[in-house]
Amino acid sequence: MCGIFGYLGHQQALPILVEGLRRLEYRGYDSTGVAVEHDGRIETHKTVGKVADLKAILPPTVEGTLGIAHTRWATHGGVTQVNTHPHASENDRVHLVHNGIIENFQQLRKGLAARGIACISETDSEVIAQMIALELEKAATPLEAVQSTLRRLRGTWGLCILLKDHDMLICARNGSPLIIGQGDGETFVSSDPHPLTAHTQRVVYLEDGDVAVIHRDSFSITSMKGHSVEPSITVLEDAWGEAELGDAPHYMYKEIYEQPDALRQCISGRVDRDMGTGRLGGMGLDHSALVQAPHVRLLGCGTAAYAAEIGQMLIEKMGRIPAVAHISSEFRNNDTVINPKAIYLAVSQSGETADTISAVKEIKLKGGQVFGVVNVVGSTIARLCGQGVYIHSGPEQSVASTKAFTNMVAALTIFATQLGRTRHLSKDDGRELIAQLQQAPHLMETYFEDVGPIAEAVDLLCGANSVLFLGRGLSATVAKEGALKLMELAYIPCLAYPAGEMKHGPIALLEEGSPVVVIAPNDHLKEKTMSALHEVKARGAKVILIHEKGDAIASEGDVSIAVPAIHPWLTPLLTVVPLQLMAYETALRLGRDVDRPRNLAKSVTVE
Ligand code: F6R
Repeated sequence: MCGIFGYLGHQQALPILVEGLRRLEYRGYDSTGVAVEHDGRIETHKTVGKVADLKAILPPTVEGTLGIAHTRWATHGGVTQVNTHPHASENDRVHLVHNGIIENFQQLRKGLAARGIACISETDSEVIAQMIALELEKAATPLEAVQSTLRRLRGTWGLCILLKDHDMLICARNGSPLIIGQGDGETFVSSDPHPLTAHTQRVVYLEDGDVAVIHRDSFSITSMKGHSVEPSITVLEDAWGEAELGDAPHYMYKEIYEQPDALRQCISGRVDRDMGTGRLGGMGLDHSALVQAPHVRLLGCGTAAYAAEIGQMLIEKMGRIPAVAHISSEFRNNDTVINPKAIYLAVSQSGETADTISAVKEIKLKGGQVFGVVNVVGSTIARLCGQGVYIHSGPEQSVASTKAFTNMVAALTIFATQLGRTRHLSKDDGRELIAQLQQAPHLMETYFEDVGPIAEAVDLLCGANSVLFLGRGLSATVAKEGALKLMELAYIPCLAYPAGEMKHGPIALLEEGSPVVVIAPNDHLKEKTMSALHEVKARGAKVILIHEKGDAIASEGDVSIAVPAIHPWLTPLLTVVPLQLMAYETALRLGRDVDRPRNLAKSVTVE
């Protein structure tokens, strides 16, 4: 979480830093700050709130061509001005911004106190600034001071450090991403690649343990122990898709409506319609590996975990081999048995989710091969796996994930088809599936022409104390995704259950008028789902029914929303869309900040 931007060059730093922060804001938005150096003086401005709040308090000009900036998602210490980054040492010689968590900071803080240095903030980050300042007094170079400080830290960091009277930045990475962008006579630092694309396409991703000394037109990298590291320059590809808001009212709205195009981008060139199979070249899986894999395990968090769950079901349906989806944070801590012959898929939009990264490392350590199903090109998971499939959603800026979900599902569908065709999936069935998958973007567009009575659904949801989401099979997972969206955006407690499980407990919640969202596409489970619908109606609940267009069950919902018909295995691609719209519109109606829901951030780079 949290965003870092740094600049050292020939232009005024402040506007570049503020623009960098604006593009990083989705990583955290509790508080934000900048520090700019000029003639040996470091000027800092910070505020609780968003980048717009920072802009409002900034003086018209702040001289200086060297600076650091940060947008925070609080971990240690409340959301206060004093806890906002950049943090400075007591003697003002060291200013820094930090992402990550320093686990031994209490102990280090006590050590500083014993030496008469009192930290003014509650953060773990300030401790680092104070320690570097102490080390500077004895170290031969600023780099050595930073290296010896880092060796005493336990935890994770992405650090960008500004030192008084030194025309340089020092950056370090351990578990929290940091990227250096090399321009012409200027160098940029960012925690995400995409703000760099406005300035340069030549970037270097720091690896864990790297420390970089950055000058205007060059930089060098060493390890924490001082060994020199050869930088590997990556040329960022032009990001597909428009990262700016344009005319759309919110990023979430824009991204919901981008789904047809995003889906086309994900599918195109990756399916063989004649052979009825997928063609995921980046997976580098040969035929025999697919045939011999004993099982598949999928990992993810939040929305990505739900996409993984859908992937699990599709792999079992098509491949007829066992598949299990795991929540990464559980997987990484449960000492799970790893079979090196199995296929492991790490699913993540950002590619920076700390729990998924740890799970990937654990699998690799035990000899397993992990394939990334990732959106952000060059992200940590993508690089760690070294193989896999980019889902090609384009930049996703809204904290609530939408187009990444549908593209994850599409990518996993293609993988399942490829796996299925090496085993039991017939050519005809494969062809039918691929043909319908190719139709899905168009069917989404058809749905957007008439999204149905979303406003009526919102009427029911707005005043609810809680909302129950029900579905079976693939739709049970769509129900979970719908519940997550409504909960995180509208702050309404939501519960998602497989419809068959409802009578084993959640039915107790229902009272006259309780809204229940039922997802009942026209698949082999529809009749059973309808039994649950009747049971909730018998208790006075109001049903919002998501169903296939033209299906007679439409009359059973208090509010019924129709989506176009599609192959039963592909229904999540369409049934999730009205749920996204319902969450978006409910949040708006309740006056919530749709793109920046409270307490959340886009990339969860801490455990
Ligand atoms: C929900 C949401 C989160 C993310 C989760 C994983 O709308 O966005 O639940 O899905 O934090 O993030 P990634 O996919 O970046 O690993």
